[in-house]
Amino acid sequence: MVRNEVTRNSNSETAKIRNALLFIGVLTILSLNINLSCPSQESTQWIIEAVQDVSDPSSSETNVSRMDASKKVEERLLRRYNVKRLACSYRERLYAMSRNSSISFEDLLEFHRRIENMSIQPGDELKDPYSWKRFDSITGIKWNNNVFALRHEDSPKVQKNFLMCLPPKSGTSNWQIALAKLFITKEEMAAKGIVVDESEKNNYFPAALYATVPRFHTVDHAALLEAKYNKYVNTRDPFTRARSGWRDKMQIYPEDPARNTSYKIYDSYAKKAEKEKGPAAPSKFKVSLEKFLRLVVSQLDDAKMNAHWRSQDGNCHFCAIDFAYIIQGYRSEEEWPWVLEKQNLTGILELSPRYGGPDPDGSEWFDHEAKGFVEIPLDLLKKVYRRFFFDFVAGGYTPEFVKTFLEAVQNAQNSLR
Ligand SMILES: *[C@@H]1O[C@H](CO)[C@@H](O)[C@H](O)[C@H]1NC(C)=O
Ligand SMILES: *[C@@H]1O[C@H](CO)[C@@H](O)[C@H](O)[C@H]1NC(C)=O
Ligand SMILES: *[C@@H]1O[C@H](CO)[C@@H](O)[C@H](O)[C@H]1NC(C)=O
Ligand SMILES: *[C@@H]1O[C@H](CO)[C@@H](O)[C@H](O)[C@H]1NC(C)=O
Ligand SMILES: *[C@@H]1O[C@H](CO)[C@@H](O)[C@H](O)[C@H]1NC(C)=O
Repeated sequence: MVRNEVTRNSNSETAKIRNALLFIGVLTILSLNINLSCPSQESTQWIIEAVQDVSDPSSSETNVSRMDASKKVEERLLRRYNVKRLACSYRERLYAMSRNSSISFEDLLEFHRRIENMSIQPGDELKDPYSWKRFDSITGIKWNNNVFALRHEDSPKVQKNFLMCLPPKSGTSNWQIALAKLFITKEEMAAKGIVVDESEKNNYFPAALYATVPRFHTVDHAALLEAKYNKYVNTRDPFTRARSGWRDKMQIYPEDPARNTSYKIYDSYAKKAEKEKGPAAPSKFKVSLEKFLRLVVSQLDDAKMNAHWRSQDGNCHFCAIDFAYIIQGYRSEEEWPWVLEKQNLTGILELSPRYGGPDPDGSEWFDHEAKGFVEIPLDLLKKVYRRFFFDFVAGGYTPEFVKTFLEAVQNAQNSLR
């Protein structure tokens, strides 16, 4: 009995070491295969950091399982990062493909697959981190710069400095509220009219909220730009993000006059979308989702688009800044707390995940989200994929994700017939 215990324990020790070694092996293979334009020193540091996490000794049961979960997220994010770097080495080509009408939906999926499974050689496109400089001279709230700089010297509550890009309609306000609390108190927020009702999903906040957390400045925050590890981009799958842009901004809010008035700026967009093919607007909406999506997919110039339906690459410039961690909304239950833990902010910040579900890999999340598209022709959804092709590829929303989503929509539509 006792011996069995010992054997089992030492077996699990061996397994742990074996897993750690396996992990190092995988990382080494990855870093050898993905020899992109970035200096190799960076890959080395990646390995060291990831391995340190693996070998962190802990005896308690719960701590071990928490560590395992966190290690799993770390591994997944490392793979996502390598896929993004590969996608970045093909950025212009991916955009050109998505705009080329002789390239079919299946062709796009096929190329996507080759990047996602990392079977393609890296391309030769270069990044320019200082392309960001053009945002430096914008005063006030830089609505065009969605990258936030969190530094200990600006707020002692920040434990480790980091950068984070928050493209609108990806859980941005949840993050903004959470991060703002590092810089001002709840009372100071209230004095600026920022009242947080955590129970409400689709909050509306005055502009003051978005001016609280410092926005990234190439010169002032150069150290953060150069630093390793601490650059995050928060993303959401382009399907539900596009719908969310419609649901929030194309709605009429008779019971919320302040919001209704400030959203008048979207009336002209609704009017333009009205000319597209599709059903009439449902009650309380300015235009139908189908018409809205048709207008969005027809507009290819990110720079001229409203940030809420501009691509996430257009908002965050996935390749100009070497974001190490690409966070996915539908995995927010796991990945948002992971970020807080990584930044040593657990217990300092409250951030409730909003966009995922208990099992993002199961069908539940897909079936639930598909209901929102039950009236949308599949062909139009394929155009959404095409329009936001680079977001899908570089954001790590895999060909399986796309297929599963379309199938879920198809199923939802079939069950209506
Ligand atoms: C688990 O880890 C935390 C730190 O992450 C520590 O404070 C706590 O004491 C640990 N619990 C046990 C039972 O070891
Ligand atoms: C579009 O794709 C076709 C097929 O790959 C290719 O021959 C053509 O040159 C492309 N057109 C443009 C404008 O890139
Ligand atoms: C990756 O995907 C491509 C395109 O579907 C396929 O031809 C190739 O066999 C795959 N490679 C690996 C290693 O899975
Ligand atoms: C993490 O945070 C705790 C307090 O929450 C602090 O005592 C500790 O020094 C921090 N560690 C790092 C590396 O910042
Ligand atoms: C709300 O906004 C819509 C469109 O901008 C407008 O037509 C409507 O009159 C407004 N309703 C109220 C109660 O302000």
